[in-house]
Amino acid sequence: MHSVSRSLKSSGKKIGFVPTMGYLHKGHLSLIKKSKKLCDVTVASIFVNPAQFEPSEDFKKYPRDIEHDNKLLKEQNVDYLFTPSADEIYPSGYQSYVEVNKISKKFEGEFRPNHFKGVTTIVSILFNCVEPDYAFFGQKDAQQAAVIKQMVKDLKYDIEIAVCPIVREADGLAMSSRNVYLSPEERTKALTLSKSLQYAKKLIEGKERDSRIVIDNMKVIFNEEKSIKLDYIAIVNEYGFREADLIDDGNEYYILVAAKVGNTRLIDNELVRLT
Ligand code: PAJ
Repeated sequence: MHSVSRSLKSSGKKIGFVPTMGYLHKGHLSLIKKSKKLCDVTVASIFVNPAQFEPSEDFKKYPRDIEHDNKLLKEQNVDYLFTPSADEIYPSGYQSYVEVNKISKKFEGEFRPNHFKGVTTIVSILFNCVEPDYAFFGQKDAQQAAVIKQMVKDLKYDIEIAVCPIVREADGLAMSSRNVYLSPEERTKALTLSKSLQYAKKLIEGKERDSRIVIDNMKVIFNEEKSIKLDYIAIVNEYGFREADLIDDGNEYYILVAAKVGNTRLIDNELVRLT
């Protein structure tokens, strides 16, 4: 990978990079399309990163289908697919980690205490291998994108981070590799996340400025679905992921939601811009 990226750079090519854990869907493909538009060469990676899963989580059973992924990437005319093995990334004796502090501690960080350390470590390794000019991340994992932006700023990576909108199923469910875990009944219940976000957005657009009231209204929707276990709902400012008590005109906010439907943990969010 190093020698490929070095020779691309020496011929003046702009490299776009899309890191993934595979089992690709239209959300991943939207990042590839954006990279193809902005860059000369697009590199995708597939690596199911053990370091970002909690011991109790689904690393072993995380869905994998490299043949189908390969086919989808060929259809998109991706230039390079980087698929390192776990032994290459973390050989025995491996002992270096990258950790972003404050912004990674709340929300997802509270429920998955080792997750972002694993993400920033692997993304940092992949950035060093691919040496991209641009890297593309999904708003689906808004906190992940914010943590990576912070890492890039702090560690002075010369890489532009682009965050692309959430791609949803026709009924509003945010696409995710983990949606395959849902039974048909759970799949219907999972819509509670996107529905509650749509309702919150409507309230805010209707001039509700008090975050507490918006969040309480969302909780009412969740309370009607006893089989869903809500982890958190929060409204945070777009740039620093700080909780906002009041929603001001002229600023951007994420409404964040995370919940367990059966055994499957789902996250979703909506970006609200008030002018
Ligand atoms: P993964 O879950 O495979 O996601 C890869 C990228 O696709 C992430 O940037 C994610 O935000 C984006 N993505 C996922 N679902 C999306 C959707 N519905 N719409 C738009 N974008 C979507 O995120 C990871 O892998 C890993 O943490 C990784 C960054 C690769 C590090 O291991």
